[in-house]
Amino acid sequence: MSLTDIPRRPLPMASHVSGKRSAMTCELKCANACLGPECNTSSNEHFRSIASTVFSRRAVLGLGAAAAVAVVVGAGRGVPTSSPQASGVAGSGASFGRPARGSLPFDAIAPVPAEVDAFTVPAGYTWNPLIRWGDPLFSRTPAFDVDAQTPEAQAEQFGYNSDYLDIIADRSGKTGVLVNNHEYVNPNIMFPSTSDAAELQRRGEIYKAAQGLSIVDIRRRRTGQPWSYVVDGKRNRRITVETVFELTGPAAGSDLVKTAADPEGRWVHGTLGNCAGGTTPWGTVLSGEENFNGYFAWAADTPQQKRYSGSSTTLTSTGWETYDPRFNAHDPEYVNEPNRFGYIVEIDPQDPTSTPRKHTAMGRFKHEGANVRVAEDGRVVAYMGDDERNDYLYKFVSKNRISGSRKKNLRLLSEGDLYVAKFSGDSPVAEITGTGALPSDGAFDGSGRWIPLTKGGRSVVPGFSTEEVLVYTRLAADAVGATKMDRPEDVEPSPVTGKVYVALTNNSNRKTVDETNPVAGNRYGHVLEITETAGQSGTTFGWSILLLCGDPNTFENAYFAGFPKDKVSPISCPDNLAFDSEGELWISTDGQPGTIGYGDGLFKVPLNGAERGHVQQFLSVPRDAETCGPVIHDKDGLVFVAVQHPGEDGTFEAPRSLFPDYGSTAPGDVATAPRPSVVQVHRA
Ligand code: FEO
Ligand code: CA
Ligand code: CA
Ligand code: CA
Repeated sequence: MSLTDIPRRPLPMASHVSGKRSAMTCELKCANACLGPECNTSSNEHFRSIASTVFSRRAVLGLGAAAAVAVVVGAGRGVPTSSPQASGVAGSGASFGRPARGSLPFDAIAPVPAEVDAFTVPAGYTWNPLIRWGDPLFSRTPAFDVDAQTPEAQAEQFGYNSDYLDIIADRSGKTGVLVNNHEYVNPNIMFPSTSDAAELQRRGEIYKAAQGLSIVDIRRRRTGQPWSYVVDGKRNRRITVETVFELTGPAAGSDLVKTAADPEGRWVHGTLGNCAGGTTPWGTVLSGEENFNGYFAWAADTPQQKRYSGSSTTLTSTGWETYDPRFNAHDPEYVNEPNRFGYIVEIDPQDPTSTPRKHTAMGRFKHEGANVRVAEDGRVVAYMGDDERNDYLYKFVSKNRISGSRKKNLRLLSEGDLYVAKFSGDSPVAEITGTGALPSDGAFDGSGRWIPLTKGGRSVVPGFSTEEVLVYTRLAADAVGATKMDRPEDVEPSPVTGKVYVALTNNSNRKTVDETNPVAGNRYGHVLEITETAGQSGTTFGWSILLLCGDPNTFENAYFAGFPKDKVSPISCPDNLAFDSEGELWISTDGQPGTIGYGDGLFKVPLNGAERGHVQQFLSVPRDAETCGPVIHDKDGLVFVAVQHPGEDGTFEAPRSLFPDYGSTAPGDVATAPRPSVVQVHRA
């Protein structure tokens, strides 16, 4: 079959259908993952069927009621609000229980209607963009000019659609480095519409340069102040779809990853779909290659390809495959090119000359991100989600222990074992407390096991070679009976307790298996709390539901760790997780406009004491945007987020957002189109 025989997926009309996700996001970001058939057609058990059993049991036992009683006193200071309504873009004034304490005190903002094009913060705080799409990283780089954009300029400018973010301060606290993923692009709002083929190809090269990552030096006069980015910073670097990556681990060099351009199977051009991530204890940044499938025209004529390609068998929306053969997986010379994406990549932001790496030992799937914690035995453990309806939760345990040698630590993620989670709701707590690791705050809702896919770096899955486990990880996990989950996004261990939090964003395809199950159909998502019961690197755990998201005014089964529902901020579609210095959880959302009618935002969720489960909204992002990459530097009084796809349902000619340069007349500002940006929130 030639490329000309294959129908091209048309770009959707720009529209936002109430109650559904933006068609533009579905097409451009996820290649319509939720519209096509499920990738996972295995018969593995749905987590929902387990959760339903547990929730039924907990209701009978009255455990939820006991938790609610415990928080009545703490919740009493606020004015009860049985129906929290949005009130324009006012920074506060709503009453969602007592104000959030700690070194970043605030009164929760009222939820902001999805149509509002504003960045909203609590009373007493203000915000500014730290860096925007198109801002030049070098003095030689052309200033951002949407009418004169080139691939060369974009390759030295800040990229588009920011997701994972970290702000890594140097020892002085006055200098540091910003690292940010750029997940995808929105051609419909970046440039004027055109049908000129040559111009479309030229823009395709701009889009390649606008994706990947940005690494940018930052500085400030005094600690505790907001940051500025540094033009010509010594660490400034762009990583794009053309940057060379090294494959590491057991699948590097295997036949499954060889192409005509890389007969050794060890060097890959570029990274795709970089979504969430994590910063390692040794100072590198991990980035998840998530929706890579949408960039390839696939044959999808094998079970292995079908399990990964989703609906991406037609020509892509980027059109890269029409002139760059490596994106045409129908070409026998490049049939393995998609096998070279879908990994966790590791980048050293301190060394702009370093070669970034893709770690095959950590498996290949739609990696949302990875977050590392050092286990009691010194090995490092990375927690990872596969963001697809009914896909799985994984963890990687390194072979070697962390050491004082940064050079050795840079190799930790190249060797180790991969596990996938199997949950059980019918196992009494007694079965999993034999290790003496019962937490002090009560019983679990159920237990679980990490099932090994590799041991000693070699496959333990019958019928799968080691290379097959690591390149076709989803099929290996199918074979061992992993539990189907509701789109695992960020999976992050608390730096204080080691408990692991799992954002399960939603699952439009979840079958209802229990009529009393409060999350049947799961439009709003939920958050799990996992407690490792045999140490961080062990293979048994207990789990509990922390949140069943939703607007409690309209979703009666919403659950907030037992906290009174009339005193919480409505929240839907949890995506990214972060912790503050006190170990409290912060959650950013992706999908509130289409599910509860409010703009996406950032929420604080206390985990401890009487405030446990008291969800309070800290900020709301502009129209059509999602909130990404939260970084909570509460001791500095600073909160950072990445604002992704503001105004995505508009067009260049008719923008729906002018974020972040609203009304600005500063030189270089472009207030005629939205610009995805990193925002810092600080005291007014
Ligand atoms: Fe790119 Fe799973 O979010
Ligand atoms: Ca995400
Ligand atoms: Ca995170
Ligand atoms: Ca997202």
